[in-house]
Order: sequence, then C-alpha cells, then structure tokens
Amino acid sequence: MFVIGSGAKHLEEEILRRASTVATEIKKFPDGEKYVRILEKGKEATVIQSMYRPQDEHLIEAILLGDALREAGFEKLKIVVPYIAYSRQDRVTKEGEPISIRAVMRMLSLYYDELYVFDIHNPRTLEFFPGKAVNIYPAEAIANYFKEKLGEGIILAPDKGALERARAVADALNLEYSYFEKKRISPTEVQMTPVDVEVKDKNVLIVDDIISTGGTMVKAANILRELGAREVFVVATHGVFAEGAIERVSEVVSELAVTNTIPTPVSKISIVPDIIKATGERA
Ligand code: R5P
Repeated sequence: MFVIGSGAKHLEEEILRRASTVATEIKKFPDGEKYVRILEKGKEATVIQSMYRPQDEHLIEAILLGDALREAGFEKLKIVVPYIAYSRQDRVTKEGEPISIRAVMRMLSLYYDELYVFDIHNPRTLEFFPGKAVNIYPAEAIANYFKEKLGEGIILAPDKGALERARAVADALNLEYSYFEKKRISPTEVQMTPVDVEVKDKNVLIVDDIISTGGTMVKAANILRELGAREVFVVATHGVFAEGAIERVSEVVSELAVTNTIPTPVSKISIVPDIIKATGERA
C-alpha cells in the first residue's frame, strides 16, 4: 500500500488507478508546523514523497510519516523520493560544509528500510543510505513519449557525464546516440560540439537529468539548429525550472518535456509505471 505525501499529490490519481493507498491526514498547524496522521493499520507500506520546493517541508513530512507509520505498527517501510533534494550538494567544496545529501539519507534511514529515487545527480551517493537503495531512470517512459516524434532521429547528451542517459533512451528506441564535447575557449565561453554524429536534416532529442535555468539546453539546441538539425526536442527527468526557464527553452526547440517527478506545466511523462514496477506494490 502506498502512502502519498503532499509532495506526491500530483501522482495520487494515477497511483489510485493501479494500486491502493493508506488513508492519512496531513495538514499544518497555525504556526506552520506539519501534522500527519496514519488512519489505517498494516504491516508494510511505501511512502511516496517528492522533495521539490518547499524542500525542507517535504523532507520533514517524510520523516513524520515514517515515525507515524512505525508508531502505527508498520514493520517494513519503503520510501520513493522521485526528486530528492540536496542531491547536488554531494561533496565538500569549501571547508566547513556538510555533505548535505548524506545528511538527508541518514535522516531517511532512521525510519525507512528501502529507498527508491529517480535519476539522482550522483548515483554513488546512494551508498550513504545503509539499506537497499535504488536509482531508477525512466528511459522507457521517455522513449515511448518521443518515439513517434523522433522517427529515425538521434539522442544526444549535453555532456559526456550524461551519456548513460542518452544510451538508455537510444537503446529503448534502437537509435544512434552521442554527446556534446565541451571545450573552454575563454574564461567565459565554452564551445559545445556533437561528437561523431551527423545531425544535419535529422531529428534530435537532447537528454539531461535536470533543467534549471535552461542555459545548457538553449545552448545545445541553438548549436544543433546551426548544424542544420530538423526538429530539436529536449527532455529532462527533473524540471527544476528557474523563473522564465520553460519559456526560454520552449522558444528554441520543437518541444520541451520533463517527467512528473516534480509537477510543472511541461511534466508530460509519467513515472508512476516505474514506481509500481520498482516497488512491486499492487492494488
Ligand atoms: C549538470 O550537472 C546537470 O546535469 C544539468 O546539465 C544542469 O543542472 C542544467 O542546468 P541549467 O538548466 O541551469 O543549464
């Protein structure tokens, strides 16, 4: 049975079509503190809680839900965190800093036996979670969404670090894939060139984990246009859009889509089938 946190409300309708949920009461006290209550009994449950803005509130709610479920007698608890906050703070860059994602995982491990995340920034950080920790990349969902639009197109990663994502989507579609090589040509300018692929007159899908300001995607899309690509599509797992980013990217591409790890106006690809498959929860 799933327990839907307020950071996963947007997934609830689709979850309910395929699985059952535990009734809860989640609200705020007048002073802003969270209140949660589990209204059913059981032995096993899977909490779903995405940690987009307000990140800290969603995190605390996940902890309170874990405590309430243990108090109600649940013995085995899993948590699915479609977008896990603090994942980019995965190392100390200046003396005195925390490894924030480690702190988040330690907190979650106080209550949860298993952790499922989507396309985490640095998969190695899953080692900070002491129990079973799974990183899901929704390659098939992305591939299915773009299959018809792309035709015999190419999948490109905006940098070498994202190549595995491009490969996973390309494998699902049986298409060619590559990445942009980045070369610094001045302190303020980085040149991006697609490696070993001919994009002229081809449809191209650029695949990344996060779109924030949209700068990376805009730059990559403009280069592809200059090189004569036909249609340029962009997709990311997490739409962490800064102000104006959706418009900036949409202006220069044929279509922008992200998954619904975070609810946004362009969250067109659902991760719910992957959640059900990975956790084994059924109606
Ligand atoms: C970088 O490590 C990430 O994979 C993304 O490429 C980056 O976060 C995108 O940021 P922006 O949309 O601001 O260019």
